[in-house]
Amino acid sequence: MKDFIYSYPTKVYFGEKAAQKALPIELETIGKTIMVAYGGGSVKKNGVYDEICGYLKETGKEIVDFSGIMPNPTYKKVQEGAVLARKKGVSFILAIGGGSVIDCCKIIAAQAVNDQDIWEMEFKNHKYPKEFLPMGAIVTASGTGAEMNNGAVITNEDIKEKAGVLGAYASFAVLDPGYTMSLPKKQVISGAFDTLSHSMETYLGSPRDVNLSDEIGEAVMRNVIRNIRILLKDMENKEARTELMWASAMAENGILKIGKVTDFQVHHIEHQLGAYTDCNHGQGLAVIHPVLYRHMYQDSVKQFARLAEKVWEIKTEEKTPEELALAGIEALAGFVKEIGLPSTLTEMGITDKSVLKKVADTCNLTAGCCKKFSREEILQILEECW
Ligand code: NZQ
Ligand code: ZN
Repeated sequence: MKDFIYSYPTKVYFGEKAAQKALPIELETIGKTIMVAYGGGSVKKNGVYDEICGYLKETGKEIVDFSGIMPNPTYKKVQEGAVLARKKGVSFILAIGGGSVIDCCKIIAAQAVNDQDIWEMEFKNHKYPKEFLPMGAIVTASGTGAEMNNGAVITNEDIKEKAGVLGAYASFAVLDPGYTMSLPKKQVISGAFDTLSHSMETYLGSPRDVNLSDEIGEAVMRNVIRNIRILLKDMENKEARTELMWASAMAENGILKIGKVTDFQVHHIEHQLGAYTDCNHGQGLAVIHPVLYRHMYQDSVKQFARLAEKVWEIKTEEKTPEELALAGIEALAGFVKEIGLPSTLTEMGITDKSVLKKVADTCNLTAGCCKKFSREEILQILEECW
C-alpha cells in the first residue's frame, strides 16, 4: 500500500428527510443569496425543487435560479453560471441534480471568484484554483458519486474535449434515496453501472497486490451487482436504490482509492467518446469495459483472476489464472447484456464511425493502467466495440 493522508471535506446527510435536517444547520453560516442550480426540469416535476426552495425561504434566503444544466455539461454553461453568480452577488451555490449539475456547479464555484479562465489556468498553466464560492449538493441521481469529490467532468465543445477539471468540493451533500425514485430505469441502471466501473477501475490500478481498499472495493462491487438485479425485478425497491446511492458515494469518497494509483483508462476513452457524440456516460462504459479488458488482462492476470473469483463468484475449480481472469471478463460482458445496457456503440445509437479515430487520438492514456496502450490498440478496441 502507498503512503496516504486521508481527510474529507464533504459532510454527508443520508436518508429520508436528509435535506430538512441538513439545510437549517448548513445554511445558518452562509450568506443570504443562494444560487439554486438544476437541470432540464426533473426536479420541478418530482417536487424536489419546491421542497428545497421552501426550506431556503423559511430561513430568509434569496434565490437566484440557474436552470438548464444539460447531461454532459458544457464549459459554456459553466461560464453562463459564473457570470450570473457574479452579477447577482451569489454567496452559496446549491446544486440539485445528478453528476452533470453537481460538476457544472463545482466549476461555476471556481470561475465566479477567479478572473483567469479556469480551463486555461488548469490545462495551459497547470495551476489550480484556490478560491471558490462555497457549494452544497442535493443528489437526485446516483451513480457518479460526483457529490464526493472536486473533480468535474466538463465538455469544452470548442475544442472537443471532455475532461476532468478541478473545482470546489461540496461542503455538504444530501443523499435522500427518495429523491431518486423518479429517475427513469435507463438512468438508474447506467448510473449504477458507473459505480461498478469506478470500483473496477480503482481495483485494477496499482499496486497490484490486494490491500484493504481492494477488499472493501470487492464488497462495493458485489453490492452494486446484487442491487441492480433486485431493481431489475422491482424498480420501486427503495432499499436497493438506497444501497446503490451509498455505494455510488463509497466508490468516489476516496476510501477505495487509499494507497492506490487508479486505472480509469475506460473512463478516459469514454469521456472523449462523450466529447464527440454526447453519449450517456454509463452506457459508454458498459460497451468499452469488456472489450478493453480482453486486451488488458494478460498484463495483470492475478488481479483479474481475483476479481473473477471474489466479485463474479466464479469457482476456481481446475481453471488456470488466465482462464479464471477471462471467465470474469465474460461474466462482466454477460452482466451488461443481462441488465439491458448496450454492448456495442451502434446499439448506443452512434452512427459516425469516423469519431473512433478522433477518440483514440485524443483520449488520455492513464498512468495507473497495468498496460501501456498505444493509440493504435485503443482504435482497435473501439473498432471491436462497433
Ligand atoms: O436534467 P434533468 O431534467 O434534471 O434530468 C436528468 C438528466 O436528463 C435526469 N434526472 C436526474 N435526477 C432525476 C432525473 N430524472 C428524473 N428524476 C430524477 N430524480 O437524469 C438525466 C441524467 O442526469 P446526469 O446528471 O447527466 O446523470 P449522471 O448523474 O449520470 O451524470 C453524468 C455526468 O457525470 C459525469 C459524466 O461524465 C457525465 O458528464 N461524471 C462525473 C464524475 C465525477 N464528478 O466524479 C465521475 C463520473 O465518472 C462521470 O464521468
Ligand atoms: Zn464514471
